[in-house]
Amino acid sequence: MRKKIIAGNWKMNYSVNQAEDFVYSIKDSINTSEVDVVICPNFVSLDRVSEALDGTNIMLGAQNVYFEDKGAYTGETSVDMLASVGVRYCIVGHSERREYFKETDEIVNKKAKKLLEKDIYPIICVGESLEQRENNTYFEVVEKEVRGSLEGIEKDIIASKVVIAYEPIWAIGTGKTATAEQANEMCKYIRNVVSKMYDEDTASKVRIQYGGSVKPSNANEILNMSDIDGALVGGASLTNDFTAIVNY
Ligand code: PGA
Repeated sequence: MRKKIIAGNWKMNYSVNQAEDFVYSIKDSINTSEVDVVICPNFVSLDRVSEALDGTNIMLGAQNVYFEDKGAYTGETSVDMLASVGVRYCIVGHSERREYFKETDEIVNKKAKKLLEKDIYPIICVGESLEQRENNTYFEVVEKEVRGSLEGIEKDIIASKVVIAYEPIWAIGTGKTATAEQANEMCKYIRNVVSKMYDEDTASKVRIQYGGSVKPSNANEILNMSDIDGALVGGASLTNDFTAIVNY
């Protein structure tokens, strides 16, 4: 049985004080008994949010990382640095990073592997653009991203530590959600790709989230689909809506 995982991606929102205040305002109403809950603030807020989460089962996540260990990489953050403030999960390959910062599957793959070396679990994002959905290349596009991002990662690691997030770009921040059926169809397809790459057992264990305009009104339906094991939540993770989604 795959445990659901719901992660809040705050993106470039909240100052350190705002981040801390927000965590204090929601943490007691978040029920973590059946769902893994992860909060991913901006780098500068990680340490303070880590402290604010102390004593809860809510886990800390980062939004990005660099794949080198240390050295002259101005502006970058290493896996060890993330580990030093208690980060347990890290989003990699978000479509905004792929688009604005030109991250390729190869870079995503290097980041995921580096995170896993230090036992931080990657949340690997994949998803097609509106154009790719409309010209019917979306299965191909997502398959290529999944294969490229997972390349060389061992199967028991995939089964136990890797999270894949299917995020159709046309549904991110647009208010346009994929229907639960569309989301499930792709999550099932991704599971099938994992089965082809590894085996059925690995595919049955890997957790696959859906992300893109998840909100309290659609969370229940989405999270009850057969192949969707959680949600990656952007905009709605910045408000009390996140509590409602987690307690869906
Ligand atoms: P959204 O973002 O929930 O605001 O659509 C999702 C994401 O980008 O992870």
